[in-house]
Amino acid sequence: MAPVLPEGVTPSEKRGRRFFEDVVDFADLKHGACAACHAGPMLNETNDFAQIVFGTPKGTRFQTVGVSELNAAQNPVHEYVFTNQDGSKTHVVSPDPGRALITGVAPKDDPTFANVNAFKTPTLWGAHKTAPYFHDNSAKTLEDVAAHYNLFFTLTSDPDGPGPVEPLLSLTPQDQADIVAYMKLLR
Ligand code: HEC
Repeated sequence: MAPVLPEGVTPSEKRGRRFFEDVVDFADLKHGACAACHAGPMLNETNDFAQIVFGTPKGTRFQTVGVSELNAAQNPVHEYVFTNQDGSKTHVVSPDPGRALITGVAPKDDPTFANVNAFKTPTLWGAHKTAPYFHDNSAKTLEDVAAHYNLFFTLTSDPDGPGPVEPLLSLTPQDQADIVAYMKLLR
């Protein structure tokens, strides 16, 4: 039988669960924020929300969450030249452009961000036992993972960058603690 999300016992775990529920909830973007890509029985594929909002076909296993872009591991970067479908070239500077090295698909031809700097979405079942995290091991703990996602969501959901309009989604310290508490239940 496919595993189901545990309910959680403590208030923190119960709040944390909401981030992993496979829902489409435009009234509260935190609800299902992680499930957008960590859905399905193995918590490793995109869901309806990602399809509606980003056009990412449900069940997609490759995405970027900004790990290469932010390069917290400070790995050396290289310049990669991609040829777009229209024949023009795009230069990408990255420590590791991920799946694009195999597909050759350039950023311009990749509206759903599944190639350049994209990596395979791992399962979250048992992740509390498998530190360090991300393809470059840049997150040493689940707390680091939650802090990374705060940065990723804040940067990618801010309509005017560092201007007056607030990001649509960011994770408070309490949110981050709740997410960590819940991930420890995914055994
Ligand atoms: C846009 C899709 C997407 C969203 C949204 C997303 N993830 Fe991820 N997640 C990924 C991908 C892709 C990776 C692999 C990234 C890498 O290694 O560069 C990943 C990696 C992880 C890992 C590392 C697992 C390991 O074994 O290394 C954890 C833990 C994780 N995500 C938890 C979360 C949590 C918690 C949230 C919500 C706050 C979340 N993810 C939201 C796609 C996503």
